[in-house]
Amino acid sequence: MKNAYENLLSAIKSNADAVERELEGYFKDSDEDYGIIFDAERYSLLGGGKRVRPFIVNECCRLLGGDIKQSMPLACAVEMIHTYSLIHDDLPCMDDDDLRRGKPSNHKNFGYATALLAGDALLTRAFLVIAEANDLPKDVKADAVAQLARAAGDKGMIGGQVMDLIGEKQSLEFDTLIKLHTHKTAALIECSALLGALAAGYEQGSKEARALSEYAVKIGIAFQVIDDVLDMTASEAELGKTVGSDAGKNKTTFLTYYSIDEARKYAEKLTAEAISAVSDMDNSELLTDFACYLLNREK
Ligand code: IPE
Ligand code: IPE
Ligand code: MG
Ligand code: MG
Ligand code: MG
Repeated sequence: MKNAYENLLSAIKSNADAVERELEGYFKDSDEDYGIIFDAERYSLLGGGKRVRPFIVNECCRLLGGDIKQSMPLACAVEMIHTYSLIHDDLPCMDDDDLRRGKPSNHKNFGYATALLAGDALLTRAFLVIAEANDLPKDVKADAVAQLARAAGDKGMIGGQVMDLIGEKQSLEFDTLIKLHTHKTAALIECSALLGALAAGYEQGSKEARALSEYAVKIGIAFQVIDDVLDMTASEAELGKTVGSDAGKNKTTFLTYYSIDEARKYAEKLTAEAISAVSDMDNSELLTDFACYLLNREK
């Protein structure tokens, strides 16, 4: 019999495979006059990635008794937005990093302008994927578009990216750093949980969606804390992206305030709180294990 952790690993793998097949499917058409943009989108979208956010979307839908066929387009849309954010995050005008998902960053391979446009295209396409999802009712699609736009925009992820850049020029207060992590990273992770709930028929204000939202915000902040740690501790080969990037730019990160051990402890505390947010829910075992898996990840 498989142990619990093996169950999780096989669920992550089969979800990632299914998501990748689905993402491939959106890129059957190209255009012979400007095929380069499709190549650039596919290069980043289909090349590696842990598929953390699509796992959360589909798993939250599943545990609430929903149909993965309905959550899958939402999972793909979130992954497209996440991938666009990575392409832009690596640009010379932002983190200026040359390695991503184990390969040269998009702009290293395609040039600055095409990378910028590939990010724009993925962002736009994400909303088209939701709008054209056949298996979702119109009101669910409208809600999903609004939630995703809110989480990805200036009051969510983009707001976090702006604070991140400010944090290179001046040192941020600890509370501002938490706000930065909440916007930059937890917003899209929280949205993933809410979209999964929505696909299963649970609106944002429902008890179930609120518990999942609390879980996801906590693991989202912990996720960025561990990302800050790995930037210092992991090897480039392991991580598949540039290491030492934050220190090189004098960014305010968790390690501005905490030692590596203290940062890990902080992430552990958030993970425990996340787990307790869903402990009363039926079928939440995979989410519990997933929170621990993210905490202990090495990439
Ligand atoms: C990296 O996200 C950017 C952060 C928000 C920390 P991931 O660590 O999920 O990157 P991929 O998708 O696996 O490449
Ligand atoms: C990026 O945070 C978060 C995004 C919204 C893209 P980081 O800049 O720390 O992500 P990595 O370390 O480059 O993946
Ligand atoms: Mg960054
Ligand atoms: Mg970066
Ligand atoms: Mg980082």
